[in-house]
Amino acid sequence: MAMAKKANTSNEELTEGQITRRRMLNWLSSFGLFGSAVVSIFSNLVFIKPRATYGQPNRFSIGKPENFPSGTRITLGEHNICVVREGEKLCAISTVCTHLGCIVSTSETGFACPCHGSRYDQDGNVTGGPAPKALPWYKVSLAPNGELEVDKGEEIAPGTYFNA
Ligand code: FES
Repeated sequence: MAMAKKANTSNEELTEGQITRRRMLNWLSSFGLFGSAVVSIFSNLVFIKPRATYGQPNRFSIGKPENFPSGTRITLGEHNICVVREGEKLCAISTVCTHLGCIVSTSETGFACPCHGSRYDQDGNVTGGPAPKALPWYKVSLAPNGELEVDKGEEIAPGTYFNA
């Protein structure tokens, strides 16, 4: 009887706004359960969504033919190609070195690789260094909207120009 009275006394000592230890533990465990449920749902959603990266598309537009006047020899770094135009003839040559994949730059004689010294002529044929083969030429076509399209998925024989 004395013990019950004592317990009542300690409960009565709690003022409004104070919480008991039990209630605090209930709150914490409920919060923990809720948090772990949220994390679980989120991680499952992350697994459902595919994490595929598709990279740069092989076929892309490089703009109108008039953007490349005769005599143009310009590298488009974002696509790793060099667009060459002489008169009506236009082509797109890869600027990725066939040795180990460094990016070649244009030089007076054609292309030069800064990594191991490979040299290519104006058409991308190897003239020196360790490069095992010529720089690829890519198919160029005219899209319905009048812009030039390069398809890096389709290599063509060097010397095959597009008339634009
Ligand atoms: S990567 Fe170009 S010469 Fe080696």
